Amino acid sequence: MTINVNGQEYPVTPEQSAKRLVEFLREDLDLTGVKNACDIGACGACTLLVDDMPMKICTMQVSEVFGKHVLTIEGLAAPDGTLHPLQQAFVDAGAIQCGFCTPGMVLTAHAFLLRHPQPTRAEIRRAIYGNLCRCTGYQQIVDAIEAAAGHYAVAGEAEMKR
Ligand code: FES
Ligand code: FES
Repeated sequence: MTINVNGQEYPVTPEQSAKRLVEFLREDLDLTGVKNACDIGACGACTLLVDDMPMKICTMQVSEVFGKHVLTIEGLAAPDGTLHPLQQAFVDAGAIQCGFCTPGMVLTAHAFLLRHPQPTRAEIRRAIYGNLCRCTGYQQIVDAIEAAAGHYAVAGEAEMKR
């Protein structure tokens, strides 16, 4: 079996298929942007996109994403390392402090903006409701998502998608 992560197919052994997805990505693929915090699906730190939908993956096994497309924070930047406009907006708005919530927060916001490129601040707050941040008080995070929304509105879903 294989799984598709950030557009690349990776072979998976039977032992790996029974592993937790978060451990497979971090330990076997070295994608350490994937965070593991609460381990019970409560905080959102482990959020990835699976077929463009945000999913908390700390309780999932590798076998659950066979045949699906997984996007981690490493896959959001351009191949040359240029940050995606949403990532850059987080930097510019000072929305990253310890950074532990950031990958999950950015990917949740990315999936939201692909579908809602002109959101209100209230809609942004609702969209990130399941992603906890202990540092920022959320204000700068909402600022960043609001600032990035214009890129999604202008460029469109196909252009912004990874
Ligand atoms: S680590 Fe998965 S939701 Fe907290
Ligand atoms: S920046 Fe530290 S938890 Fe969000």
